[in-house]
Order: sequence, then C-alpha cells, then structure tokens
Amino acid sequence: MTDLFGGQEPRQSTREKMAEGAVLLRGFALDSEADLLVAIGAIVAVSPFRKMVTPGGFLMSVAMTNCGRAGWVTDRTGYRYDTTDPETGKPWPPISESFMALAVSAAAEAGYPAFYPDACLINRYDPGARLSLHQDKNERDFCNPIVSVSLGLPATFQFGGSQRGDPVAKYGLHHGDVAVWGGPSRLFYHGVLTLKDGEHPSVGRMRLNLTFRGAL
Ligand code: SIN
Ligand code: FE2
Repeated sequence: MTDLFGGQEPRQSTREKMAEGAVLLRGFALDSEADLLVAIGAIVAVSPFRKMVTPGGFLMSVAMTNCGRAGWVTDRTGYRYDTTDPETGKPWPPISESFMALAVSAAAEAGYPAFYPDACLINRYDPGARLSLHQDKNERDFCNPIVSVSLGLPATFQFGGSQRGDPVAKYGLHHGDVAVWGGPSRLFYHGVLTLKDGEHPSVGRMRLNLTFRGAL
C-alpha cells in the first residue's frame, strides 16, 4: 500500500461531544507538546510537585502543583485557591505564554471564546494514582469553563452528570487530548481511574494533566 504521509500520520484534531457544553478535542495540544513540557519543567523547579492531604486526612495519590495568580490547594482546613504556594511561601509561577495560548484556543474551539484563566492546576499521576469522582466547585465564577490537557501515559476519564449517582461515561484520554466542560456541564462530576503502568516516549512513566480555571 502506498504510504501517503511518508510514515507520518497527519496531526488531526477531532471533536467528540461528552455532554451539552462539554467536548473532547482529540490531539489538540500535540503541536504544543514540546513548549508545554519545557514550561512544566520551569514551574516545577520553583513550585515542586507535592502530595496534598484532603480535609478528611487522606493523602492524595496524585501529586500537584500550580501556576497562575492562584493555585488550588487542600489541607486539613479544606479546599481553596491560594495566591501563595504554602510549600514555598511565595507566589505560584505565572501561566506561561504557551499555556495561555493553548487554553484560550481550546476554549474558543469548544465554544467559550472569552476564557482567560488565572489558575492552572498541574496534576502528576504516577502508575497507581487515581482521582475519585468530584466536581470542580472552588472557583468563584462558574461562567468560565474548565480546560483540561492530557500529556503522557493514557488514562480513563470518567464524566458523569450533575449528581454523584448519575451514569458515568468513560473516555480514553491520550497524549495531546484536551477536554473542555462548561455551561450546562460546568459542575458535572468527573474523575480519573487508576493509572496503568507504562512508558511514554516524551513524558516517561507518568501522566501529566493541566487544568485551567477562572478561579478568582
Ligand atoms: C481534575 O479533575 O482536576 C483532573 C482531571 C484529569 O486529570 O484529567
Ligand atoms: Fe476536576
């Protein structure tokens, strides 16, 4: 068979509707992959990944850090956005241009043309890590969507409804995929199943996830 693309598949971004207001943009971040990984390295050098404790006293299996004017944190006193990194006592590193450009264009592509995030949570899933079903509801204004970028090892994303008991659909999230939810699905429950072991060619033995939010 003729190899039309000289061994290289064209980078395509296809869309999949998850719910009203929620869309999966397959491969949308592939072209920014190198810039994103460099920017993550710079953030982690200032505000390292750490495992935080939930208000109930459980250590989260996902390691987290943030960039932006505010960062999402949890400790025994509750969940909140904090303009200071509690580990360093300093402001979080700023949202880089490559991060901002990706978040703005993904939101616009998903139907949210005026999204300018002020917070970005960076999640690191090592094999075995998971994130149980939850709503993102610590943000001040739910008019803004959530823009969620997947890098590295694949994971199974669960996306449900506005009630914890609603049926949950499962989506495989791969390197470069971007999920956006807002409007009628802004407060829908979502989570990530236990990460399977593996090795990603450019990211290694982990999954990284960026979630952009309008927090303040
Ligand atoms: C999150 O809900 O904060 C993260 C979702 C993901 O890792 O895909
Ligand atoms: Fe979330």
